[in-house]
Amino acid sequence: MESIVIHGGRKLEGTLHVQGAKNAVLPILAACVLVNGVCVLHNCPVLTDVAAAIEILRCLGCKVRREGHTLIVDARVISRCSIPDSLMREMRSSIVFLGAMLARLGAAQLCMPGGCEIGSRPIDLHLSALRTMGVTVQEQNGNLCCKVPNRLHSSVIRLAFPSVGATENVMLASAFAKGRTVIYNAAQEPEIEDLADFLNACGCNVRIDAGAVRIDGVDSAHDAEHTVIPDRIAALSYMTAVAACGGDVCLKDVRTAHFASANEVFRQAGCELDISATQLRIRSNGCLRAVEHIKTQPYPGFPTDAQAAVMAMLCVAHGTSTMTETIFENRFNHVPQLRRMGAVIRTKGCEARIRGVKRLSGAHVHAVDLRAGGALITAALAADGVSVIEGVDHIDRGYETIEACYRTLGADIERSAGSGKQQSKQKQPVRQL
Ligand code: UD1
Repeated sequence: MESIVIHGGRKLEGTLHVQGAKNAVLPILAACVLVNGVCVLHNCPVLTDVAAAIEILRCLGCKVRREGHTLIVDARVISRCSIPDSLMREMRSSIVFLGAMLARLGAAQLCMPGGCEIGSRPIDLHLSALRTMGVTVQEQNGNLCCKVPNRLHSSVIRLAFPSVGATENVMLASAFAKGRTVIYNAAQEPEIEDLADFLNACGCNVRIDAGAVRIDGVDSAHDAEHTVIPDRIAALSYMTAVAACGGDVCLKDVRTAHFASANEVFRQAGCELDISATQLRIRSNGCLRAVEHIKTQPYPGFPTDAQAAVMAMLCVAHGTSTMTETIFENRFNHVPQLRRMGAVIRTKGCEARIRGVKRLSGAHVHAVDLRAGGALITAALAADGVSVIEGVDHIDRGYETIEACYRTLGADIERSAGSGKQQSKQKQPVRQL
């Protein structure tokens, strides 16, 4: 069982290239199923969730090759229309293969997806939208058997909530539908735009404007080359660590417009930000101020995926901050772990009150989901003494070589092969500048 061992209290300084976006590459890999040809995807992070998506593609009959951060997906032959339960349960994003399989194969058999335990995470919006498009869906004991009786037809879909996954599934399912599909109240996350850009590069016809996505069905999709957008959540996680530890770090290869709502929080906390379109420099003297109120919301609001790491940062801010989680009902898994490090946090339902303490202290903690893991690393880097973080498998789902990245910034952080009592001497390679 691996763990991450951190000797906290060091300032962070230097330059970091931010990985490609997990939440963009996963639906794009599913979209490759539409293409009777070969797609070349650049800036694909090395993550266990990406490995799971590659396994799903291979299982369907596709050939996938990795060359560094480039993935080459050959989907000319698809030999199967079902995904094994073990792969479906690896991650939530496996559900977007449903739309792609329906578009290309007219059928899909799979079970309910897995992923982080942060709430009930139903897929009713996905299924009712697909039914509107003419898909027959049979659900039994968590298994789904979906079929397209004829060609999918044009539809107007009004999502009750701008669900990211449901928007992606409909975009994929409708790529070859007859006529125009319109999704109102669609998700507007940058990852949706990246998926649309990839689909258009493949010859599909997708337009996004004013909260709606319009898909004009085409007959087929062709080979394409695409570069995945940078990961705004990874960038924000690194920023929380710099803010909490103090330091001066330049993040390269980011799209700062993608996390504008969160940038404001860092400024309110007392950090200095120099921002250009693709680069961000954050400076902090380590003495943070509380932030009055943060509420997670669909994009362009404050992202739910950054809530945990920002909370970790606010644990050492002077004063009391409040946060409201509106997207998921069970997304304070990190709170008991942060308390073990001395944080003073009270929660009631979806509200959290964080009373900043001068210093956190190192502790043995467990990452119970991906973003909780990112948050614990932020807290441990800022804490006095040694922390051991278990549950590294969650962290590896979304952060590429996280300890190597922090080491380039001067952190004392190691991956240990055991439960942290013995530190591993093995260093991970740092992503090349
Ligand atoms: C969500 C986040 C996304 C984040 C990802 C991983 C939002 C809006 N979405 O995307 O930014 O990157 O988690 O952490 O911030 N829901 C239903 N029925 C459905 C689908 C969703 O009730 O069929 C509800 C969910 O329970 C949840 C909310 O809608 O409360 C957001 O879901 P959705 O956007 O679909 O989740 P993800 O696609 O996983």
